[in-house]
Amino acid sequence: MGEISRRSGFAASAIRYYEAEGLIEAHRSSGGQRRFERSVLRRLGFIRAASNVGLSIEEIRDELARLPGNRTPTKADWRRISRHWGARLDEQIAALQRLKSGLDGCIGCGCLSLRSCAFSNPGDWVGERGPGAQLLPDSLRRPHPTKRSG
Ligand code: FES
Repeated sequence: MGEISRRSGFAASAIRYYEAEGLIEAHRSSGGQRRFERSVLRRLGFIRAASNVGLSIEEIRDELARLPGNRTPTKADWRRISRHWGARLDEQIAALQRLKSGLDGCIGCGCLSLRSCAFSNPGDWVGERGPGAQLLPDSLRRPHPTKRSG
């Protein structure tokens, strides 16, 4: 564990987490220690790159699942992956540009209103959750009159 942690730059806890999530595999020695194949280092590199692009753990799992036999990406894989990630980065850039434009309206304001502030509620994500006080914990919210529980 110490060696793969040092060589990959990931903390041992992160490596255990990725193993528990099924993104990498380890074999056990007769003494019960984890042993990693060399290819795991490349998979960890892939995980780091995907994380840097902003992929969630589920998205990383999906990408890795498209690689047969737990292999690492080939050039052809990378062409496909980079198209997908490029589109993803374009979306993130556009979202950041929208956020930056909202900054102009906030200068000197400080209200952080959920109704009108692009920083407090970018893209009105609170409104997309439905009507009512969406930021209150469920236990403090009354059910919406048009929705029936159960
Ligand atoms: S801080 Fe007031 S609109 Fe953003």
